[in-house]
Amino acid sequence: MAKDTLTVTDNRTGKTFELDIADGSIRAMDFRQMKISDDDFGLLVYDPSLLNTASCKSSVTYIDGDKGILRYRGYPIEELAEHSSYMETAYLIVKGELPDEQHLNDWSYNITMHTMVHQNIEKFMDGFRYDAHPMGMLVSTCAALSTFYPDAKEIFDVESRRLQARRLLGKMPTLAALAYRHSLGLPYVLPDNDLSYAGNFLSMMFKMTEQKFQPKPAFERALDVLFILHADHEQNCSANAARAVGSSQVDPYSAIASATAALYGPLHGGANEAVINMLNEIQSVDRIPEFIEGVKKGEAKLMGFGHRIYKNYDPRARIIQEIAHDVFEETGKNPLIDIAKELERIALGDDYFIERKLYPNVDFYSGIIYQAMGFPVSMFPVLFAIGRTSGWLAQWSEMVTDEEQKITRPRQLYLGEDIRHYLPIYKRPEPMTKERRLLLERL
Ligand code: ACO
Repeated sequence: MAKDTLTVTDNRTGKTFELDIADGSIRAMDFRQMKISDDDFGLLVYDPSLLNTASCKSSVTYIDGDKGILRYRGYPIEELAEHSSYMETAYLIVKGELPDEQHLNDWSYNITMHTMVHQNIEKFMDGFRYDAHPMGMLVSTCAALSTFYPDAKEIFDVESRRLQARRLLGKMPTLAALAYRHSLGLPYVLPDNDLSYAGNFLSMMFKMTEQKFQPKPAFERALDVLFILHADHEQNCSANAARAVGSSQVDPYSAIASATAALYGPLHGGANEAVINMLNEIQSVDRIPEFIEGVKKGEAKLMGFGHRIYKNYDPRARIIQEIAHDVFEETGKNPLIDIAKELERIALGDDYFIERKLYPNVDFYSGIIYQAMGFPVSMFPVLFAIGRTSGWLAQWSEMVTDEEQKITRPRQLYLGEDIRHYLPIYKRPEPMTKERRLLLERL
């Protein structure tokens, strides 16, 4: 009869072990009982970059990368993008259920009440150079918030967690807009609490001398949908950073600053910036075949293509293309869209990309819309971070309340030197071995 177990024979000793299978997984710790002697540490599971390791149990986001499915708390991303707002989706992600009207109003009101930042944060911003990257400013000022809210250390107090969540959701757009205004030398704009979440962000970004900023409805909705699309993506690099750093029981501002730092990298949230740079470099549709040949030779990457999880079309990329039309009706077409569409068409018909199951990901088209709306390229990952804050909070909170979680501390396979004894510099052997020189050159 079929059993939910896995039988493993250790051929070094001939011993057989029966390991339980639960939720389609086995426990890595079960391998530690497999030893060749009493003083053997036990078998480790080697998984660089955690390609096949579930590091937690989660109920936030479901992805089926082969089928191109993404759901938050069970709700398909397509339905949320069409019918929900970012405020409502953030509630769903953080709290687990869609709100009723009263709860949604209270939630939005409470977040709106936390959009202002302490004046000293403006002084931090002033300390950055005019050309500082806004992600660097966001990472630093997000971490700095922990110094303003020492109560955030009470991570096991549910009320404290709720308060920090409202503060973070309220203040991330403000920090982002401050960073942008600083880079242009423009005066900072106070939050306008009459506007929607996305509308207020647009106001803090782009308000000039007018009494009241009126966001363009197409921009407001596009940005809101983009925040929804970016809200969570299960155990990605930045969520993993929030969990790993948060597992030391540090406050959520520090944990989410580390997640923001993870998002900064070009292989993660920085990819949409890299896509625009790539499209600008390609310059015109007729140069695409040459570029694709270069990618296939390993000279460049097709940025915005490929994903660790999606081996099918990223559903977010499809939705983004639809929003692009609404934005372009307002702004006129961003000429880069023609290069992007042709690049996609050629890549999806090319064996290199077909064999490797490389499809456009969320970043392939998002930058083109952001650019059409007037956001500079350096702000793209910042916009990603604003939307993703709800996901980081949900992941962090899940980790804090999961009794099975401990401080994250992977093992390693030590392949370095065995014990050696220190020699004074004049006694060290010469010449240096070739291996040693090569090693030093890499460090
Ligand atoms: N262009 C060209 N080739 C690629 C690309 C790409 N964008 N992505 C993967 N490949 C190739 C790799 O060279 C590799 O080929 P090989 O088998 O001949 O060596 C194969 O496809 C498998 O790729 P891996 O790098 O092993 O895939 P991995 O899961 O480690 O990487 C990643 C995923 C980092 C997203 C990668 O596809 C990539 O670098 N893409 C471009 C950057 C990007 O768009 N990042 C955004 C991701 S979405 C997000 O974070 C929001």
